[in-house]
Amino acid sequence: MNDKFKLLQEIETEIKICTKCPLYKTSNCSVAGEGFYDAELVFIGEAPGASEDKTGKPFVGLAGKLLNKNLDSIKITRKDIWIGNIIKHRPPENRNPSIQEIKACETYLKRQLDIIKPKLIVTLGKFALNFFLPETVLSESHGKLLTKADLNIYPIYHPAAALRNGEFKKAFVQDFLQIPAIIETISSKNN
Ligand code: URA
Repeated sequence: MNDKFKLLQEIETEIKICTKCPLYKTSNCSVAGEGFYDAELVFIGEAPGASEDKTGKPFVGLAGKLLNKNLDSIKITRKDIWIGNIIKHRPPENRNPSIQEIKACETYLKRQLDIIKPKLIVTLGKFALNFFLPETVLSESHGKLLTKADLNIYPIYHPAAALRNGEFKKAFVQDFLQIPAIIETISSKNN
């Protein structure tokens, strides 16, 4: 079995029995993340919602449908990417995750990204952006390639925010269309 795949599976097993914060008590199941273990492109969201909590899979609800539609627009499929969240159990009523919950969960995503080593991390919404770059403001930085240590980070609005607000939707779609060019820029820098 591929080493990266196996290591990711081991983390998923740990997440399933995680009690580092109280969210395991109020959620139905964990959502570790899913996709290609060797993906160049990774999407990071905030936390599972109701549909994700039912299925154990990330972005399978309405926000996920909008994400899939925009992936189609750049001819990328969910099989090509890896997708996960900063929080692995659903916060009750989809409330914002607390600082303590983010801290308790952070080791999982850091380890997952260390294994996958993506070329580009697309953060969806403020919480995912601030996980990597705590001081960065989403409204000023969306659609711009940022770096932190050896990570390339491309912040865009969260698809759930895009569903609620026409301006955010416009920015989400435009920023999404730039993703192939951003990957190209990173590849040419690395060569
Ligand atoms: N919103 C998120 O941030 N993540 C999901 O997995 C689903 C909805």
